[in-house]
Amino acid sequence: MDYKEISFADFYNVPDKDIMARAKMFKEYVDDVADKKHLQYRRVSMNGSEPVMRVLDRYTGKVKEMVYLASNDYLHMTKHPRTISAGRAALEKYGSGAGSVPLLGGTLDIHIELENKISKFKGCESAIIYTSGFGSNCGTLLSLLQEEDIAILDMLVHASIIDGCKSTNTKFFRHNDMESLEKVLARVKDKHRTKLIIVDGVYSMDGDIAPLDRIVELAKAYGAYVMVDEAHATGVIGSTGRGTPQHFNIEGKVDIVAGTFSKGLGGVGGFIASNNELIELLHFYSRPYMFSTAMTPQVTASLIEALDIIEDEPVHREQLWKNIQYFKENLLNLGFNLGDSETAIFPIIIGDDIKVKEICRRLHEADIYVNPVLYPAVPKKLARVRMSLMSAHTKEHLDKALNALESIGKEYGVI
Ligand SMILES: Cc1ncc(COP(=O)(O)O)c(C=O)c1O
Repeated sequence: MDYKEISFADFYNVPDKDIMARAKMFKEYVDDVADKKHLQYRRVSMNGSEPVMRVLDRYTGKVKEMVYLASNDYLHMTKHPRTISAGRAALEKYGSGAGSVPLLGGTLDIHIELENKISKFKGCESAIIYTSGFGSNCGTLLSLLQEEDIAILDMLVHASIIDGCKSTNTKFFRHNDMESLEKVLARVKDKHRTKLIIVDGVYSMDGDIAPLDRIVELAKAYGAYVMVDEAHATGVIGSTGRGTPQHFNIEGKVDIVAGTFSKGLGGVGGFIASNNELIELLHFYSRPYMFSTAMTPQVTASLIEALDIIEDEPVHREQLWKNIQYFKENLLNLGFNLGDSETAIFPIIIGDDIKVKEICRRLHEADIYVNPVLYPAVPKKLARVRMSLMSAHTKEHLDKALNALESIGKEYGVI
C-alpha cells in the first residue's frame, strides 16, 4: 500500500473494517512512517522535562542529549526545588493517593486550598479542580450545554472543547476574526437558551492571543457568555502571569475561566473558575469530577507551591520572555514564517507535509527536539514545525537550535 497521501485522519473510521482490522491497517501505516524515520511521536525521555532532554532514540537504540524545544513546562516548575519539596512533604503526610472521588471522601484540605488559590489567581469567586485539563474542559461543557443551547467556537479551539460540545449545537467563527464572530452572533440572536462563546487565551499550535477584550464586549452586546481556556496563558502572559484577562485588563469580566495545571504550573490536572453557583453545579453534574478519584496529594501540594512561586519569583517569567524575544528576533531575521506567534509557542509554517516530516527528521538527527504538526491537528496546507520555549533554556541552547534550523531550513528551501 502507498501511504504517501494518507494521514492519521484517514483512520478515524475505515469503511468495512471492524476495530481489529482497522488497527491492523493503522499499524502498517505507522510502521511505514517509522521506516522513513518520520515517526517523531512518543519519544522516550530518561530525565523528564529539561531544556536538554536525554532521549532514548528509537532509531539507534541509544540515549542521546537533545535541546528540548517541545515542553509546555514554560517556567520549569516541574523541577523547582520548592515544588519538589512541597510535593514530597504531602506524599509523607497524606500518602500516594486521595483514596476516593471528591464527593465521597476524596476531598482533602489541600484540594480546597488549591481551589481557593487558583480562583483568586484568576480573579473569580470559586474554582473546581480536575485530574486532567482535557477532562476539565470536556466534562464541564458536556454538563453545562444541551440541545437547547449553542457553543460559538473559534475554529482553532482545543480538542477538549470540541469534544465537550458534542451534545449541543455549535457554530464556528474564523480564527481571531471579530467580524466573523459578530456575524455568527447576529445569526443566532434570540435563537438559543444559552449562547457560550469559547476561545483559547493562547492558541496551542499558533502561539497567538485571542482578542479577549473585544470578545467580551461582543458577548455583552449579543447576550452571550464567554469561556476562555487559559492552558498556555497561565504563568506566561499578563503583567504577573495571571493570563489573558490580566493581559487585557479585564480580570473578573470573563464568565468562565478554564485552564490546566499541566503547563506553566508544572503539574497535571485542570480547573474551572467562575461564580460560586456555577462551580457548585459542576460539583454535582460534571462527570469527570464526580466519577473520578481526586487529585493526588503530591501534585496538589506542588501546584499550591507553584502558584506561590509565580507570585514571589517573577524571574522565571522574565527569563522566559527574554528567551522568547531572542529566539523570535533571530528566527524572523533568518526569514522563517512564524505566523502570528506572540508567546512561547513558535510554529514554523511550511505547508508541505513531507517537507515538515523531513525537516523534523533532520533536526532529530542534529539533536534538536521539535515536533511535526500536521493535519488534522492543524488545517490542511498549514503543516508546521512546532517549538516551545522554557525559562530554563540558555542562550547556548537557543543558538544551537538556531544554527541547525538555519542550515536545514536553507537546505529545504524554507528560508
Ligand atoms: C489549549 C489546551 N487546552 C486543554 C488542554 C488539555 O490539558 P491537559 O494536558 O492538562 O489535559 C491542552 C493540552 O494539551 C491544551 O493545549
